[in-house]
Amino acid sequence: MKTIIITGGAGFIGSHVVRRFVTNYPDYQIINVDALTYAGNLENLKDIEDQPNYTFERADITDAAAINTIFEKYGVTDVVHLAAESHVDRSITNPLDFVQTNVIGTVILLEAAKKYWKDDYSKHLFYHISTDEVYGSLGTEGFFTETTKYDPHSPYSASKASSDHFVRAYHDTYGIQAIVSNCSNNYGPNHFPEKLIPLLINNILNSKQLPVYGDGKNVRDWLYVIDHARAIDLIFHKGNNGDTYNIGGFNEWTNIDLVRVLCRQMDEKLGREPGTNEKLITFVKDRPGHDARYAIDATKLNKELGWEPSVTFEQGLSETIDWYLNNKAWIERITSGAYADYYETQYDKR
Ligand code: NAD
Ligand code: DAU
Repeated sequence: MKTIIITGGAGFIGSHVVRRFVTNYPDYQIINVDALTYAGNLENLKDIEDQPNYTFERADITDAAAINTIFEKYGVTDVVHLAAESHVDRSITNPLDFVQTNVIGTVILLEAAKKYWKDDYSKHLFYHISTDEVYGSLGTEGFFTETTKYDPHSPYSASKASSDHFVRAYHDTYGIQAIVSNCSNNYGPNHFPEKLIPLLINNILNSKQLPVYGDGKNVRDWLYVIDHARAIDLIFHKGNNGDTYNIGGFNEWTNIDLVRVLCRQMDEKLGREPGTNEKLITFVKDRPGHDARYAIDATKLNKELGWEPSVTFEQGLSETIDWYLNNKAWIERITSGAYADYYETQYDKR
């Protein structure tokens, strides 16, 4: 019997993780702890909200009193920590928000784990979800492995690197059982349209320009979000205490090639003439400090725990586009209001 806090469960990846744990483990109590920032949306969990093993607690992870109350009230046995400020561009304009949630918030959760689990740390696990961006940027060759030296460049990746270090420090210093996994770029249903793929899908639907930063040659490794949730499930249950696991799709794309594939798939699905969407591509001012290439070597996860991606990129992308086409109300609600202001400051003067 476990009572697991999943932080950030109303966000993109967190909602897929919550659904998977609630559905696959009816004996576990799953407490979704989320502050519902602009990125949190309970609509993402409509289908499971009435399940008897699911509870939502609106709380900010930087509020130590609220976190302590949740640990006491539920007798929390484990933490799967996803809550974060997650968008690189926002970290460039508001770095302190990222320090607050990603660094301070993580330490507050660790402090609660230290306090409430002290009778026997061996019965509990603190599993921290992190990013490949902590490793910095690659040239044209090579991959990030679990032993690659940290070299973060953006305020976002610096804050995530710091949180990773704190998790390991609590493991080494206090004996808290902890695991960190570092994943590449996710895509799929419920992705907030500030990130490249959902932003493009939304703009194509509205025949708006498709902003490509710089020359579009930056490379990212893309993984379907359901496969990330599968990896998190596996690592939570079978990962080694104190270990790090890299998670990736073995699926590298330059941004411009990815944009073109998406344009072609959407021409077809929307019944537009081939080439129609590509005409919307617009090269815009580059992101400051834009990392050139990320590429994850996920061999350890594959060899030790038998994980591999379950869908090809073309399949995952097609399913993702279909999800947005079938959930226009979701995207319309999200892109009204504050999103319009965000879009204007990020793009209209770019
Ligand atoms: P997201 O921005 O979609 O969701 C973040 C969630 O955290 C939201 O529900 C938000 O309300 C919540 N949150 C933010 N600040 C909070 C606070 N102070 N207290 C409580 N809740 C708070 O993020 P995502 O893309 O789903 O990423 C989830 C995690 O996975 C993050 O830790 C991120 O660093 C990591 N990650 C993301 C990717 C990716 O491609 N999106 C890849 C690797 C790792
Ligand atoms: O690598 C994992 C990381 O992937 C996660 O840790 C982050 O939380 C997640 O946001 C993501 O970061 P990126 O910066 O790689 O994702 P984003 O979707 O913002 O950008 C992907 C690439 O596309 C990047 O090279 C910048 C570029 N881009 C992005 C946007 C939003 C554009 O060219 N145009 C855009 O409008």
